[in-house]
Amino acid sequence: MPADQHTENTPLFISCASELEPLLIEELKELGTEAVRAGFRGVYVDQWDWPLLYRINYGSRLATRVLLPLAHFRCFDRTSLYRHACEINWAALIKPGKTFAIDANVHHRELRNSLYAAQVVKDAICDTMRKRLGVRPSVRVDNPDVQINLFIDHQNAVISLDTSGVPLHKRGYRQESVEAPIHETLAAAMLRLANYKAEDVFLDPCCGSGTFLIEAALIASCTPPGYLRKYWGFMQHPSFDSATWLRVRNQLDSKRVELQPNHLYGLDISKNAVRATKINLRAAGFHQQVQVLQDDFREFVPAVLPNLILTNPPHGRRLEEEDTLVPLYRSLGDFMKRSSAKPARGYVYTSSLDLAKEIGLAAAKRHVLNSGGVEGRLLEFELY
Ligand SMILES: C[S@@+](CC[C@H](N)C(=O)[O-])C[C@H]1O[C@@H](n2cnc3c(N)ncnc32)[C@H](O)[C@@H]1O
Repeated sequence: MPADQHTENTPLFISCASELEPLLIEELKELGTEAVRAGFRGVYVDQWDWPLLYRINYGSRLATRVLLPLAHFRCFDRTSLYRHACEINWAALIKPGKTFAIDANVHHRELRNSLYAAQVVKDAICDTMRKRLGVRPSVRVDNPDVQINLFIDHQNAVISLDTSGVPLHKRGYRQESVEAPIHETLAAAMLRLANYKAEDVFLDPCCGSGTFLIEAALIASCTPPGYLRKYWGFMQHPSFDSATWLRVRNQLDSKRVELQPNHLYGLDISKNAVRATKINLRAAGFHQQVQVLQDDFREFVPAVLPNLILTNPPHGRRLEEEDTLVPLYRSLGDFMKRSSAKPARGYVYTSSLDLAKEIGLAAAKRHVLNSGGVEGRLLEFELY
């Protein structure tokens, strides 16, 4: 289907990390989406309009990208990919002087390499635009004006416009990082699974760069996850209407409330992690309401007992590293029991099943989640 012919009847694909699809469906319904169905690593939205597309981009805590399909086709080889890509009206989407980039995810017998397939689509874009306008657009990998997405699963291909541009987990507050930070979208998903509410007194005793704390602060203050972002891919689309966008944005912003102090606490043994959390909290605007301390949770006695503990302790990449972490995991179980206001909920996310057993508490539930391609478990403990 040529780009200038696509309508709001083309289903959107909202991508997310695997296993988050049911949570994303729930969240999209809260954002006013009606016709939704689960796909692979994402959710289809069958009926939508531009205000809804803006709202999902601005307000979804769990989505990674909002993709607007431009063409669905059977792809047999390089020639059919090139031919179908040439049929899209690129001149309507990439205005003169604008840059573009292609993100490809390809599982195909002949087109084995995603980079190669992206190159074929890039050639199609440049060739059609040169023929039509006499100039070819430039590719820019970082922060392009127009982000295109190519997905091929066996012979089923779809070329989409990425209306998010930069992926939605990039909220704009992460100035500093630590080793193995959790993705913002995954942290938000875990808080949802933990049924986190603004009234909870929440402690992350291994807070790293503060992702759980900041996502919790965003939820508790009803701050849209896109609040700090300035740019989305949809702003380059020919149908972009800035008045409608501002209306959608203002509607969601008007729900913001003050974050209550003395409800969110973080702890980390590492000076650098505490520094990173403080910098990120400041960037997010929550540095005055969220307390962060440098301490070892094994020796820490909270002044205010939390009723919710959620953390992802170090998990070790190799077996020897895992062995050294056994005492830490044993202490975590004791810490959660000793340092919470009963009844309380405790959640530990780890990719190590062996270390999880060392916590020494019986998990009431286990949620399988995927962090950066590594399968992990969010274990839920009832603390009473
Ligand atoms: C996997 S990282 C947490 C990442 C964090 N969720 C984020 O998104 O940035 C684990 C953290 O546990 C901290 N840690 C390890 N042992 C600790 C202890 N005994 N007390 C407090 N923090 C500890 C490490 O310094 C590290 O920052």
